[in-house]
Amino acid sequence: IVENETDVARAAAEQVAGVIRAGRASGRAAVLGIATGSSPLGIYRELASEIRGDKLDTAGVSAFALDEYVGLDAAHPESYHSVIRRTVTEPLRLDPDRVHVPNGTSSDLEAECAAYERAIRGAGGIDLQLLGVGSNGHIGFNEPVSSFASRTRLKTLAPQTRADNARFFDSAEQVPVHCITQGLGTILEADRLLLVAHGAAKANAVARMIEGPLTSMCPASVLQLHPDATVIVDREAAAELQ
Ligand code: F6R
Repeated sequence: IVENETDVARAAAEQVAGVIRAGRASGRAAVLGIATGSSPLGIYRELASEIRGDKLDTAGVSAFALDEYVGLDAAHPESYHSVIRRTVTEPLRLDPDRVHVPNGTSSDLEAECAAYERAIRGAGGIDLQLLGVGSNGHIGFNEPVSSFASRTRLKTLAPQTRADNARFFDSAEQVPVHCITQGLGTILEADRLLLVAHGAAKANAVARMIEGPLTSMCPASVLQLHPDATVIVDREAAAELQ
């Protein structure tokens, strides 16, 4: 638990930078799992500033996004293809060919999900998966009642998630109804998980994730099963912890 959003970003960026440096030192560049949404934006800004200052080198680093809306063209400003390019690929100077986002406009979405799983395996698996948590306890777009064993698949967004994400669109109706998301089983296979949350709106989800029962009603509670999961939250998001 740290003081505020800036401290969350700093502490988390330090961990991500550590994984990137360890990758360079080992000769196998890091494979990162990346999240969209507001929670990780400060982390990406911190990393970008280290890169600009020549304190961090991301050459060879690959990244896999957690999820993508179905039916939004990659060129749409709110598609996760666009968001990842703007907030991660460009500022972190990643090679665009090494940054993967599920294709939500594929004519065969099931094949796309299977190919995404293969691509993660082909890259040797994810070293560090960054996560945010939804106000309803989702991670990725694994909405409540998602199976703990689930793999990358097509999902329907919960009404709560569509309402939460309406702020990125002109109207709530424009938020897509379906998405592709890495499954909980997929996420659990990353070597390390790093979840960040800030603000009072996350306090209930954070408490249920960490101190609540392991339940698919709170998909983030699956972090309790992972041997190397770190959660960094600010005081407001920690407010409902015992
Ligand atoms: C984003 C994602 C979601 C978000 C969550 C929190 O790729 O997978 O699980 O992390 O909805 O969103 P923010 O950070 O906008 O509150």
